[in-house]
Amino acid sequence: MVRLCVIEGDGIGHEVVPAAVQVLRALLPDIEIETAEAGMDTFIRTGSALPESTLETARACGAVLFGAAQSPSYPVEGYFVPGVRLRQELRCYANLRPARWLPVPTAKPDVDLLVVRENTEDLYLQLEHTRDSGETGVSEKIITRAATERVARRTFEMAMSHGREKVTIVHKASVLPQTDGLFRKVAFEVAKQYPEIETDDLLVDTAAYWMVKDPLRFDVLLTPNLYGDILSDMAAAWGGGLGLAPSLNIGDGVAMAEPVHGCAPDIAGRNVANPTACIMSVALLLRLHWNMPELADRVENAVRSVLHDGLHTADINHSAALSTTDFTNEIIARL
Ligand code: NAI
Ligand code: MG
Repeated sequence: MVRLCVIEGDGIGHEVVPAAVQVLRALLPDIEIETAEAGMDTFIRTGSALPESTLETARACGAVLFGAAQSPSYPVEGYFVPGVRLRQELRCYANLRPARWLPVPTAKPDVDLLVVRENTEDLYLQLEHTRDSGETGVSEKIITRAATERVARRTFEMAMSHGREKVTIVHKASVLPQTDGLFRKVAFEVAKQYPEIETDDLLVDTAAYWMVKDPLRFDVLLTPNLYGDILSDMAAAWGGGLGLAPSLNIGDGVAMAEPVHGCAPDIAGRNVANPTACIMSVALLLRLHWNMPELADRVENAVRSVLHDGLHTADINHSAALSTTDFTNEIIARL
């Protein structure tokens, strides 16, 4: 029995997650779906952005679909970023963020790269405090050999099994030799055990330059948490936009599918969000976690077919745009 814990979160999570669930139900009518909650609305109502019961449901199901949560850009007593905490609590130590050409005018032909982002440490541990009565902010950046080794191993294993040829390790070891330097060193140690895969490294600013200038030079990028967050949004632009960019968090057992984008408050509640990123995240779950590649192919082919015929949501082109629900129904009709 396939089980899925569904967490819509905030904003367009309430629109794109139900769309992806609808696609999944069309393929797997017997799927057992448990709903759970997290996010800012949950925090306001219950006092916790990620209730313990949500974590219990997620662990019991073994697979999660998470939309996105709204996190303020200023400190809120008791609030933490639920998506980040979910990845840490579920020990999803690697975040796979592919950017691959889709038939839309906003995508760059031939782009096919994978950002693998370390998911459990770095500045995202949120070990922040202030000094000098709030006039100085301090954040601890933690990089460990253990976390780097496991994400690097997973990256090279994925590269081997998915016909990838090259891994680029991204860091800023020139300025941060004790943290990023450790990441670089350990990643290269792991790389030595995979001589079939070409490995090189780039400073993160140079990687950003090449991501804009020539994304075709990249195959797989292996990065600490923060740089992966940024570079994967850049890569998403080449895949056609944030509305199309999927991701899968994997680790020691539980897998969590989630779009790269956030909860998009600027368009939430209007039935205009692009559900593709969320639907393609479910395809990753089918392919890589549930080991159902035929069903993953059906989802991806249906999405490609709809986009190929010029059907689209407003983020791709305002003119003749379909609503979230109509666009989803087109995909379901072609499964
Ligand atoms: P965002 O990704 O939510 O939106 C950026 C831009 O892309 C907006 O103009 C939005 O309308 C558009 N966009 C995003 N997804 C779209 C979709 N599926 N269809 C059509 N257009 C789409 O990033 P932003 O605006 O910086 O953050 C908004 C909120 O989301 C913040 O509170 C932030 O903390 C949160 N966020 C949450 C994440 C998560 O929970 N995993 C990840 C990123 C941001
Ligand atoms: Mg991000």
